[in-house]
Amino acid sequence: MRALQLIETLIQHEEQQRQEIHLVPSENAATMVSRLPLLMDMYNRYFFNEQQDALAWNFNGARNVADLETKLTIPLLKELSGARYVNVRPVSGLQAMLMVFMAVGGGAGAHILTVSPHDGGHYATKGLAAELGLHAHGIAVSNLDELDMTEIERQLERWPIRLIYLDQSNGLFPFPVAPLAELVRRRDPSIHMHVDTSHWLGLILGGAIPNPLAEGADSFGGSTHKTFPGPQKALICTNESTVALRLKLKQHDLISSHHFGATASLGIALMEFKEHGAAYSRSILRNARRMAACLDHYGYVVIGKELGYTGGHQVWVNPEAQGLGSYEASERLYRVGIHVNVVSPLPTCEGPVIRLGLNEFSRLGAEESHTAALADIMHRAMMQTDSEAALRKEVRSLRQCLPDHYGLELGSDEIRKKYDDLLRLVLTGLQGGRKECD
Ligand SMILES: Cc1ncc(COP(=O)(O)O)c(C=O)c1O
Repeated sequence: MRALQLIETLIQHEEQQRQEIHLVPSENAATMVSRLPLLMDMYNRYFFNEQQDALAWNFNGARNVADLETKLTIPLLKELSGARYVNVRPVSGLQAMLMVFMAVGGGAGAHILTVSPHDGGHYATKGLAAELGLHAHGIAVSNLDELDMTEIERQLERWPIRLIYLDQSNGLFPFPVAPLAELVRRRDPSIHMHVDTSHWLGLILGGAIPNPLAEGADSFGGSTHKTFPGPQKALICTNESTVALRLKLKQHDLISSHHFGATASLGIALMEFKEHGAAYSRSILRNARRMAACLDHYGYVVIGKELGYTGGHQVWVNPEAQGLGSYEASERLYRVGIHVNVVSPLPTCEGPVIRLGLNEFSRLGAEESHTAALADIMHRAMMQTDSEAALRKEVRSLRQCLPDHYGLELGSDEIRKKYDDLLRLVLTGLQGGRKECD
């Protein structure tokens, strides 16, 4: 690929994003301000000296911005999560999972409970556990919104479980943590209970669903870019000093570059979330339920209808009854500028089903009226009642009329001017502007 073609490809992608609507529950739109550190010099610097010890600056490229991690990201995350100890070093949800397995999984030969992919667990959890010599058993689930507590008690009798790792990638309702924590406390408090909140973080930190630590879990964590609108990264939160220490010891072996720029970006995303997170997280629940109800009204099979469709950001729709396969439906939506996810297996579903997430749409400021308008376009796109060109135009105008008021408050003229200075500096720096040398 030549430079011109490369640049044209990038322009085309960037322009397209501004005209399309993303409904993939695993993704979100971080704000421009929070993305800046990913473009800046700091993104290419290492930072190991977490204590900022004056005599331990082995790498000091990020020394003058180290406070962004230690005095912005970490304290804000502690405040929003209610955790005494937080670890912002993992670069992805899977790496956070690996760190938890290594720190509190019990070591090779130990038994753990995880969520089977058929019940909504992440596809990689069991394999990753097996790589470490852990025996992962599928935690008993009784319904879309319930664990089977009687069977879990039997599982705890049958195997010497060391870790319960509640990973729910495909979930309409967050599994209840409190009864499980209560069972663990009663039977064997030495079992570690971790909730992988990759999909749920924004809903938890915004207060729309319960915080696992308040419900009795020992730790929670996962990716920062699904319902939480941050950079692609991950974190782990706990109130237990021994757990925090074990994680730190494993961090030493697992993570060298923790992507300092992404950690700074996370700090800005947390600042923004502190301001807007509560309203945003509640709007996700409203928009998800509205989307589900509209698609149900149009005659699609919407999973979880009997439970109120959804208690989170995800909506699962099967267009089979309309004589349409999920992949074909997704393709028709893609052609008009709507991105959805097709997933198999999804709990209680046969074959591939469309998995929607209302997180990014809500982050851009969508209200229920926008959601209803989107559902209407989606129905017409799937049923091909209108031309693709006309529908693409409708999607573009819906996308462009979203208010997108989420983000850092740049209030005064002075702040705006400084922000413009920063943008100029970053962009000219990236272009490698040259000055005459003496
Ligand atoms: C429960 C769970 N854990 C881990 C991951 C992996 O996260 P990442 O893609 O950030 O590695 C996911 C991603 O979907 C997830 O849902």
